[in-house]
Amino acid sequence: MSDINIPKSIRASHISIAQLMQPEHANNLGNVHGGWIMKLVDEAGALACMRHAQRRVVTVAIDSMVFRQPIRIGDLIILNAELTYTGRTSMEAEVQVQAENPITGERTHTNTAYLVYVALDDNGSPISVPPLKAETEEEKQKMEQANERQRRRLKQK
Ligand SMILES: CC(C)(COP(=O)(O)OP(=O)(O)OC[C@H]1O[C@@H](n2cnc3c(N)ncnc32)[C@H](O)[C@@H]1OP(=O)(O)O)[C@@H](O)C(=O)NCCC(=O)NCCS
Repeated sequence: MSDINIPKSIRASHISIAQLMQPEHANNLGNVHGGWIMKLVDEAGALACMRHAQRRVVTVAIDSMVFRQPIRIGDLIILNAELTYTGRTSMEAEVQVQAENPITGERTHTNTAYLVYVALDDNGSPISVPPLKAETEEEKQKMEQANERQRRRLKQK
């Protein structure tokens, strides 16, 4: 396990997962069930956090999710997740969701979600995570925006 005082890059937490949407993932309209997408989003965010913390994690907060486009059965759902914030034991992951038609290759961005996870020690208690470091100006801005989101969540608590 790495030293938790050494900052880690956003890039190091990045994870991409893809899954073919099958008939069992359908809602009554024949598109992909929103709950299935939410499950994959939660898994992708958790994996990015596990990569960063090198610990198991639990979801503590999920921001509202807006689905801009339906995802169709037969599409490939692609999720890209990475960290945008670390507190002492908490982490925010940004998850970008895309749908790809595997025949035409056309890709649509369907939604972006922000979720907060807490790293746990072997006894199930929150444990410190390494800080996150920005390597580009864009990453720095993302981290500032994430700080603001976390500040708002804690205010609403
Ligand atoms: C997550 C959990 C372990 C936190 O325990 P806790 O006693 O509340 O611990 P703390 O108050 O120290 O909070 C831990 C961190 O979560 C953050 N947090 C707590 N509530 C939060 C919220 N609503 N939004 C964002 N962050 C939150 C705290 O700010 C703290 O972050 P920090 O250490 O970086 O400052 C506990 O709430 C829990 O077990 N929840 C259930 C998790 C779960 O079952 N998820 C679904 C299945 S994975």
